[in-house]
Amino acid sequence: MSRPRILVTRRWPSAAEAALAERFDVTFNQADIPLNTDQFRQAFSEYDAILPTVSDKLPAAVFAGDVRTKILGNFGVGYNHIDIAAAKAKGIAVTNTPGVLTDCTADIAMLLLLAVARRGGEGERQVRAGAWSGWCPTHMIGTKVTGKTVGIIGFGRIGKAFARRCHFGFGMDVVFYNRSKVDEAEAARYGARQLATVEEVLAASDFISLHCPGGAENRHLMNAERFAAMKPGAFLINTARGDVVDEAALISALDSGTIRGAGLDVYEAEPQVPERLKAMENVVLLPHLGSATEETRTAMGMKVVDNITAFFDGREPPDRVA
Ligand code: DGY
Repeated sequence: MSRPRILVTRRWPSAAEAALAERFDVTFNQADIPLNTDQFRQAFSEYDAILPTVSDKLPAAVFAGDVRTKILGNFGVGYNHIDIAAAKAKGIAVTNTPGVLTDCTADIAMLLLLAVARRGGEGERQVRAGAWSGWCPTHMIGTKVTGKTVGIIGFGRIGKAFARRCHFGFGMDVVFYNRSKVDEAEAARYGARQLATVEEVLAASDFISLHCPGGAENRHLMNAERFAAMKPGAFLINTARGDVVDEAALISALDSGTIRGAGLDVYEAEPQVPERLKAMENVVLLPHLGSATEETRTAMGMKVVDNITAFFDGREPPDRVA
């Protein structure tokens, strides 16, 4: 029997590419440039599986023509770049890669929290620019992290891993908002307490960290009203998805001093980052590095291999989302 034809839309760590090549008739995107809508449409008519990732855009339009594809094995846990309803309508299964990027994404959120509170990016720029004139008691004074309150929006795997770091690593008080009720004993394992509304979390917290999915349900969850509802002098951390934050409202809140600073790993129109954000010293900007470790990116690739292997063997893929 001929092997399923698979398209991988971006380059992957070599071990994961090798595992794919062993099992499938694979086409790798050697140029590593994201496909456009026409190329995706063409790919849907030619491949049994397409393995996209967060840098790909798969709106309803790409599913419009003849479709040979039976499964989208997404490389990544978030899948708001895929029109799931359109995929379902064409009978295409969709899988993701939960679990393996939890710790590394929580680590990046911690890195951003520390960097923005202690002015790490600003300090590094000063040293590199040769502008540091030496230690003095009033130089680059930041905000103490230990003992402060952190508010987490979205208490899934990554939210919990971040809570654990904040509470047990930095002695922080942790409160969170989550759509569904989390058992108190379970929350306590992470040193965290659930509050009833986003607003209550905003009012209580010195740092707000977003860990909810992107997409329509959470689009602009952080808007002008919610920035105004944050504690004066508080900070925002976003390692979730860019569309969870109204970027224009964030810029205004930073400009007006409504919030003290922000640590961002994700943006509304990646890889575009607004010039006004780049010009602000009280903002730490990373290029979507949440899962970017050798161990995690390889594990993500292996999860996709497991998902599509199961699918073509006639078994239920372990991480099916549609
Ligand atoms: C994900 O998995 O959704 C990440 O954002 C990509 O690393």
